[in-house]
Amino acid sequence: MTGREARPWWRDAVVYQIYPRSFADGNGDGVGDLAGIRRRLSHLVELGVDALWTSPWYVSPMADGGYDVADHRDVDPLFGTLEEAEALIEEVHRAGLRIIVDLVPNHVSSRHPWFRAALAAGPGSPERGRFHFRAGRGADGELPPNDWTSYFGGPAWHRVTEPDGTEGEWYLHLFAPEQPDLDWEHPDVRADFEHTLRFWLDRGVDGFRIDVTDALVKEAGLPDRADHRPGTPLPWADQPGVHEIYRSWRRLTDSYPGERMFVGELWTPDPERFARYLRPDELHTAFNFPFLKAPWDAEELRGVIDGTLAAHAPVGAPATWVLSNHDTTRHVTRYGRRDTAFAFDGGSRHADPVDLRLGTRRARAAALLSLALPGSAYVYQGEELGLWEVEDLPAAVRQDPTLRQSGESDPGRDGCRVPLPWSGSAPPFAFTPPGAARPPWLPQPGEWKDLTVTAQTGDPSSVLELYRTALRLRRAEPGLGDGSLAWLPAAPGVLAFTRPGGLTCVVNLSAEPVALPEHEAVLLSSAPLDGGLLPADTAAWLRTTGPGR
Ligand code: NOJ
Repeated sequence: MTGREARPWWRDAVVYQIYPRSFADGNGDGVGDLAGIRRRLSHLVELGVDALWTSPWYVSPMADGGYDVADHRDVDPLFGTLEEAEALIEEVHRAGLRIIVDLVPNHVSSRHPWFRAALAAGPGSPERGRFHFRAGRGADGELPPNDWTSYFGGPAWHRVTEPDGTEGEWYLHLFAPEQPDLDWEHPDVRADFEHTLRFWLDRGVDGFRIDVTDALVKEAGLPDRADHRPGTPLPWADQPGVHEIYRSWRRLTDSYPGERMFVGELWTPDPERFARYLRPDELHTAFNFPFLKAPWDAEELRGVIDGTLAAHAPVGAPATWVLSNHDTTRHVTRYGRRDTAFAFDGGSRHADPVDLRLGTRRARAAALLSLALPGSAYVYQGEELGLWEVEDLPAAVRQDPTLRQSGESDPGRDGCRVPLPWSGSAPPFAFTPPGAARPPWLPQPGEWKDLTVTAQTGDPSSVLELYRTALRLRRAEPGLGDGSLAWLPAAPGVLAFTRPGGLTCVVNLSAEPVALPEHEAVLLSSAPLDGGLLPADTAAWLRTTGPGR
């Protein structure tokens, strides 16, 4: 066995992210669910991905779309039942795919039995020891215990009313107040997550996506951010003690048959510190957010690609290539703006004009780029349809807690979570079944009639058929996926590289058409070629006589 079949699947896999609330609704309540995923599994098979990752389906009050987990070892009735999850895992495997589930270890829901017990038990109780409860500052404890802020806006602390009715302690929440942070120094916390890992491994899942991977361990004493020394990790992120947790998890997954894996959600900016999580006895992979954040610019992208490969090489981990997810502005929209970079910027780019035609053209080229790079790739549901960020959702229908916590200055992440259009000429585009009791939980734009799966199927110029063809070629081409890359000389604004076996990828990010490098055949292009020229904002895969051929 040589090449891909000899490697663990996760080194090459193309993973499709399902955000369950917005994928497909099976029971007609307007919210996506497990029945919907099971009914639409054939879409993933026809698309040609290797695996799927589902955002949380666990019991949750949905204060943060399911990232506020009240029971990690059961399914929320909104999504279905545990039996349905088990059936889905089996069906995914029968379809020849793998499945990764989400794990949310930094915090739980404020409705989690542990947190309810902690509130009831009062200050100094063992129950509070599983969380970060502290007395406030100020004469009456009326000020938060430190100056940390929540990722969603406002202070990272919430004051509780004690069982005797007095204003009491504060608890830490790096996200919404409904998401109290766990204290990972507490043995119960560690034991409970091992239990959860085993629970899902026993049910056959192939891996876990780890939410806010670097935040679990906090700096001792919870020092103020104001005292933070430049060049050291922030007191709530990337603390040395977090690595031991992942080493113990790795030992656990390695004790299971099959090739179970982890993918970390790591926004750690320093490449060397990022790579520490990917040492051979820690996580297998992590999301490549520098790639997602990069602007549509050849030099910047080349810098990120080289930086990514250089960071991963010493630890022997495969890179991942990610363009969008359920937290970030869809890349059709990003690439159609003047400033094409992504940042969590409090929504400041939200009102910028967008050229969706240009954004779509670039998104098509970006798909061929990311699927040709060495390693594994992620496809966020709807990117294979060319969906854009729905920026004109009225505030009244938006549900992301960011909107509220930012005092409405940040519109939040609902715009990338609008339910998928499957078929038909008007909303709900078969997202809900016929006769559904409720409309989709967020309204879909009428223009998506041209972007439904049915409308695009069989149209060779559609985004969907581009993805299907690219994924078919990627599977057939032994040099794609994990492995080496060699850059080719190219004009300014152009990226050109070749993979073992002689597949060359060229991306023209300049404003002018450019000549194609020498080749035997054009396998695929993201837009029609102009004679022998590659038009602006276009990518092509070429068959070349390359190393190893
Ligand atoms: C990252 C998840 O992707 C995001 O959706 C969530 O809001 C936060 N972590 C908190 O769990």
